[in-house]
Amino acid sequence: EVRPVVLAGGSGMRLWPLSRETFPKQLSPLMGEHSLLQSTIRRIGSNAAFGRPIILTNEALRFAVAEQLRLADCAASIVLEPVGRNTAAAIAVAAFQAARENAEATLLVMPSDHMIADGSAFLIAVERAVTLARQNLLVTFGATPTRPETGFGYIRQGAAIEGGHGYRVASFTEKPSRDVAQGYLDKGGYYWNCGIFVFKASFYLAELKRLAPEVHDAAQAACDTQATDHDFIRIGAKAFAASPDISIDYAVMEKTGAAAVVPLDAGWSDIGSWSEIWNILPKDAAANVLLGDVLAENVTRCYINGADKLVAAVGLTDTIVVATDDAVLVAGIEHAQSVRKITERLKTLH
Ligand code: GDD
Ligand code: MG
Repeated sequence: EVRPVVLAGGSGMRLWPLSRETFPKQLSPLMGEHSLLQSTIRRIGSNAAFGRPIILTNEALRFAVAEQLRLADCAASIVLEPVGRNTAAAIAVAAFQAARENAEATLLVMPSDHMIADGSAFLIAVERAVTLARQNLLVTFGATPTRPETGFGYIRQGAAIEGGHGYRVASFTEKPSRDVAQGYLDKGGYYWNCGIFVFKASFYLAELKRLAPEVHDAAQAACDTQATDHDFIRIGAKAFAASPDISIDYAVMEKTGAAAVVPLDAGWSDIGSWSEIWNILPKDAAANVLLGDVLAENVTRCYINGADKLVAAVGLTDTIVVATDDAVLVAGIEHAQSVRKITERLKTLH
């Protein structure tokens, strides 16, 4: 049985000021008709190959998430994390939930904030990954890198796995510097980690126990002390807070010797930062994306979103401007990843 797991707890800090803690990007229809969370659910929703999804989120977002599930006509288990402890711990909690019901359960772990243009190509890749996961491999999906993006993990392709449509992971480097990333592009043979994973719940937990025992034990203790409240599962707060705050990429994927990668050519993108949104959206003749009320003069390669304001821009290149009712972001497009630093500072102010 394959249990979809959706990570819907992050706050999308690099998309401030449109993404906020109380209304993060996965809940807003940033790119189309449905919210990114709803699109994620719909991608696997109608497929009989999958068991009941497990959605991981937090207290503040629980009703908004439940509403998105209702709109997608999806009955799921919603697990509430008392504090954010990043993806290694969140996925461990999902693994304990699934293993409790079926010791052989396989997980398909998906972020809630990605776009995948070709849903059927995605499902074919998932099927391949499931075959590899049954051989005790931590399987991830690889996209062909097109620029030295520093916000992603990089996978060096290893030996082909017989009959499996996949490769061993020779090495995994999470969020390298720009120079290192450029080196990978020049050398070739690297994939971007898509951040979507397939593995047996029991195998992930065994690797986590070996590589990050404090995360494993905190998640286990939190699940041992969980309580069910209507549609929501609340894991033990004290136990979970003891987990280190670390992502699966640093805690497990960089260190394990048992990883595999399945190439994914399905128009995948992580809607993680403003530069990524600029990359994906159609541009005018001067390579600008201008949304809302914008007057532009001599402006090239800019993303300008006058969400709640009239924005006038003169003589700008490679710049992001997002103007909402209570905040304005002005940032160099090359520095889109660093918007996170501003949101971190904002957290300490409020
Ligand atoms: N439930 C829950 N709890 N979800 C979380 C938490 C948490 O504590 N922290 C993050 N998430 C969710 C985010 O909302 C997102 O959907 C997903 O987990 C991944 O977190 P990001 O913060 O977006 O990670 P990233 O984009 O920096 O890096 C990851 O994804 C890249 C590709 O998109 C890594 O896996 C990279 O290696 C990868 O290239
Ligand atoms: Mg992301």
